[in-house]
This record gives sequence, C-alpha cells and structure tokens, in this order.
Amino acid sequence: MGIETTRTNRKGNKEFRELPKATDTTSKSKPRKSRRRQKKMSPVQMLFETCKEVFANSGTGIVPSTEDIERLRAVLDKMKPEDVGLSPEMLYFRTQEARRTPAITYLHLYESEKFSMGIFCLPPNGVIPLHNHPGMTVFSKLLFGTMHIKSYDWVVDAPNDTSANENSLEITAPAVRLAKVKVDSDFTAPCNASILYPADGGNMHCFTAVTACAVLDVLGPPYSPPDSDPDGRHCTYFREFPLTSVSVDGVSVPEEEREGHAWLQELDQPEDLEVVGALYIGPEIVDK
Ligand SMILES: [Fe+2]
Repeated sequence: MGIETTRTNRKGNKEFRELPKATDTTSKSKPRKSRRRQKKMSPVQMLFETCKEVFANSGTGIVPSTEDIERLRAVLDKMKPEDVGLSPEMLYFRTQEARRTPAITYLHLYESEKFSMGIFCLPPNGVIPLHNHPGMTVFSKLLFGTMHIKSYDWVVDAPNDTSANENSLEITAPAVRLAKVKVDSDFTAPCNASILYPADGGNMHCFTAVTACAVLDVLGPPYSPPDSDPDGRHCTYFREFPLTSVSVDGVSVPEEEREGHAWLQELDQPEDLEVVGALYIGPEIVDK
C-alpha cells in the first residue's frame, strides 16, 4: 500500500536498519560457546536471509518458484509480534478517538531493489485503502489482532469505459474497470500469510482493522521510487462501485455473479489516509 507515502516519512526519520557488514563467523578459533550463539538466527534475520534467496532474481512481473514461495511462507507463518519487537500495548495501536480516520504507523525494516520488508501498525478502525501492487508478489502476515481483507483481481478482457454513469451522475475520466472479488473476510492471528501475485491472488487490496492489529508486508520487488520513471511500479488507489450502480455497455455479468464483482476507478491518494513512519526497534537485521 501507500509505500510511496511511507518512503517519504522513512527518509525523514532516517530509520533504515541496514547494518555494516558482519565479521567472519566461520573461524575455527572461536570459542565453542560463541560459535553456538552465532548459529542461532533470530526469526527476523531468518526472514531476511530467506527473502534474499527467494528474491535473488526479483523484477517486475517475476514470480518466485512455487518452492521458494512455500519456503518464505513457512518462515512468515511462524513469526510472532515479539519477533519484531511489537506488542498490542504499544502506542501505535491505541484508539484515536479525536480522529475520524486513525493514523497508521509504518515501521521500515529493509529495502533493496529486490525486495522490501515493513510493518503496518493499525489502531482499531484503521484503514489501508484499496490499492494495487503492479508487477509484484506480496506476502502479508498478520502478527496479531483481527483484520478484514477485501481484495480484487482485474477481469481479463473486460472493456474499460469512460462514460459510465452512477445514479445518473456522470463519472468522468479515469475510466472504470471491471474487477472480481478475490477475498472478503476477517482474519484473526495466528493465521497463515496471505500472498498476492502480479495478475492474481487479489493484487488490489484493502485492509481494515477490526481490532488493533499489525501486518508484516514483504514485497518483491518493492514499489519504484516516487520520482522515478512513470512506467515504474507505482501505487495506485481505487474507489469501488457496485455493478448495480454503474452501467457500462458491452459488459455482461450474470445476475448471480454480480455481488462478486465491482467497478474500480483510479483516484488520487485518499485525503484521510495518514501513514506515519516510525523507527523499528525490534531485533537487528544484519546484511552480511
Ligand atoms: Fe498492499
């Protein structure tokens, strides 16, 4: 989601956690106790090492092998809030009664050209609006709490239309496009990581915090920098319209399937979305 927003905050906070190259740990002269300690890798370090391998050839539209996806999913599935220094009692998750839409906190863990890792902390009723992940494979692991996920994939070969009408009010450009609901459910931790792909699995998704919750996102590859090539991997937000309220010529969706579809229309970044970058203070991630 709004990674481009969070990047700005992250740079401002200089919270990047890449650390200097580690010293050689293979020397046989090291004490046995030291060698034993270095063999025990923290869960977040294990996640980082696995991501480096799984996304070694990462690029737009490149999906890791099934074996690699299952390997990374298995690592994520075991992760707990304490593995990244989080607990539900932290300030990030407090109810914000004065705000209409609660602010969301983003904890940046790591980013390279190949992949990124970060955590979204949502107070109750916090919403990450409907957005896409162009050309990416995304793993989302709910660390605690209950979150509603609604996601869509585009209906292939469905026509776009710039003259759609909603309740007789004309919708001007950009066009609406037909999408099919992939997921529309509550998830409560502990649960397995969800995965989306460049063209399926719910590439466009919206997260709503039913209770305070935290979700660990792994993106491969990450979004493109905000000021880079406009054809890059940029985050787009969408508004959804039910099929019954918009008529577009040439589209025929059977009556019984209409509930599982919607028209999606691009929109600028939602005004009420506030994502604040904060310093990750969990276990260190060492880039060896
Ligand atoms: Fe997302």
